[in-house]
Amino acid sequence: MRKYLVIGNPIDHTLSPKLHNYWIKKQKIDAEYDKKKISQNDIESIIFEIKNEKLNGLNVTIPFKKTVIPFLDKLTPEADKSKSVNTIYLQNGKVVGHNTDISGFELGIKYCKYDIKNKVVLILGAGGVVSSIIIALKKLQVSKIIVSNRTKSKAEDLKKIFNEIEIVEWGVTPNFDMVVNATSIGLNNEDGIKLNYTEIGHGKFFYDVIYNPRETIFLKRAKLFGNKTENGKMMFIYQAHQSFAIWHKMLPDIDDETITLLDK
Ligand code: ATR
Repeated sequence: MRKYLVIGNPIDHTLSPKLHNYWIKKQKIDAEYDKKKISQNDIESIIFEIKNEKLNGLNVTIPFKKTVIPFLDKLTPEADKSKSVNTIYLQNGKVVGHNTDISGFELGIKYCKYDIKNKVVLILGAGGVVSSIIIALKKLQVSKIIVSNRTKSKAEDLKKIFNEIEIVEWGVTPNFDMVVNATSIGLNNEDGIKLNYTEIGHGKFFYDVIYNPRETIFLKRAKLFGNKTENGKMMFIYQAHQSFAIWHKMLPDIDDETITLLDK
């Protein structure tokens, strides 16, 4: 039986095992997918299990997407550009790190049929997933990317890699067409995003990377003010789908059953 694992800390919230095991069963693959809470000190030995094929694939989540990189033999161009790895596998005896968050975000936006080309996008946050979002937004040909983060130096670090981004102070609301919440505010029903909703008006697109809870305060309030909203569920499904394709060399359907599975 082939074995797959998602590693992170915390890890309780993850729906990856549910989704991967659903597809594994549906495709009648002899495999299982589990989750494991780890610390940074465990990474070396877990990567070794990929090398000696005790494990066949890994997903990596918060806060290890960057810190796994020194333990890998090779990065794909996506992982290298974003300096972020969420999918690991063995290829020709080498442990390879890949990033499926970029295509996950891109396909998620395409799925919700928002015409993003030439739009101004504000990203709230500068954590692990933001470099992937910036790369995806560039591919989608937005006209401007503005980043706002509580700790400004982290936004400035992103600007060193992506010179074209603009940075605004945390709490400042610039003009935008679309705003992405990429902070962890909202995971616990916190209310920490200070946007001037009256000034923003209506008809904008509010996107939250968080999918559990399904509707954060950020999205609830945006809706109240007459804006379009979307959570990160399809991004999550698509990133998992891309990992699945790499490991099992097949693409299961993303049907209604798959989509509603995560709501249960
Ligand atoms: P990491 O920063 O380790 O990559 P992350 O979960 O990917 O972790 O990112 C968390 C993001 O949510 C960060 O942008 C963080 O802002 P800081 O860089 O200032 O820490 C943001 N965040 C979390 N809680 C927040 C809060 N209460 N107010 C504002 N931003 C918050």
